Amino acid sequence: MRVDIDVEVREVGLRDGLQSVSTFFPSAEKIAWVRAEAACGMPEIEVCSFVPPKLIPQFTDAGDVVAAALEIPDLSVSALTPNLKGALRGFETGVHKLNYVTSVSESHNQSNVRRSSAESVEDFRRIVGARDQHPQAAGTRLGVGLSTAWGCSIEGAVDPEATLRLAGRFVEAGADELAICDTVGYANPTKVKALLTRVIKEYGDAVDIAAHFHDTRGLGLANVYAALEANVLRYDATLGGLGGCPYAPNATGNIVMDDLVFLLEGAGLRTGVDLDKLIEVREIVARNLPDETLHGMYALAGAPKGFQPASRVA
Ligand code: COA
Ligand code: ZN
Repeated sequence: MRVDIDVEVREVGLRDGLQSVSTFFPSAEKIAWVRAEAACGMPEIEVCSFVPPKLIPQFTDAGDVVAAALEIPDLSVSALTPNLKGALRGFETGVHKLNYVTSVSESHNQSNVRRSSAESVEDFRRIVGARDQHPQAAGTRLGVGLSTAWGCSIEGAVDPEATLRLAGRFVEAGADELAICDTVGYANPTKVKALLTRVIKEYGDAVDIAAHFHDTRGLGLANVYAALEANVLRYDATLGGLGGCPYAPNATGNIVMDDLVFLLEGAGLRTGVDLDKLIEVREIVARNLPDETLHGMYALAGAPKGFQPASRVA
């Protein structure tokens, strides 16, 4: 983690947000978004997904977007991969980090990546092996997102022991980071603190631990606060809360990056992100996705009088 920040926030809107948006976001505009948000001090941006272009045409330009992002100084560039083939495409680009994804819920894993969780662990082992042998990928970090860690819309509540067991298998297989994900809004602060305290205790010395919350039922930022109490220092979010399901009216997506930065900075935790500049970046998303609702209360209300963000006080 950068030395001038206390908590690392990571923009995932270009991946988790855009994957559910059918309107193609032009490549030059994706790059403009990445540049503008990096210029606000955002330490890490997940810029695309190496999935089959036929499956999600939004990411047809993945290689170009990564190449442009890698030119930005001091930005950690990450991308999602669902399998070995995607990882090999990613290694070729020299991307700094690849985020592999597996669901704790077997049914969700089958529907998302068409294999069992056990097969996903084996696929990940092959990715670690391929990384270790690839001439351009020696420095590429491998993160694992554990989706549906608290619950799943197909299976319902997920047993925390199952999440811990799967986490352990990925640590043993060579993950550099674990992101514990509440994919569909089944977590609450009590459950978040309980599970993440155990994840940190058991695996926090071996790998970096991150949390990834969706605001599906309005508990996203409360869950962040609970995760902070468990000592989790890395959070994914999307500018304006982009995301959600296009087929479910009123469904909300990821937690809102702008409100997350407001929460952390107000709590005295430096994110390194300039909140007022960040609000201006919403315009790039708005002009390219006129039919999407952008969320965020800070953008609506502005700063409270005399607000002193921790990063500016420092
Ligand atoms: N990038 C590009 N092409 C890929 C690919 C990748 N990562 N993975 C597979 N392919 C190609 C194969 O080469 C094959 O091509 P062909 O038809 O020309 O021979 C085709 O896609 C099917 O490959 P297969 O291995 O059989 O994959 P599949 O159809 O079983 O799909 C996944 C499996 C994992 C690729 C797919 O389910 C997937 O991308 N899931 C991720 C969904 C997602 O992004 N969810 C949101 C993120 S959490
Ligand atoms: Zn997500």
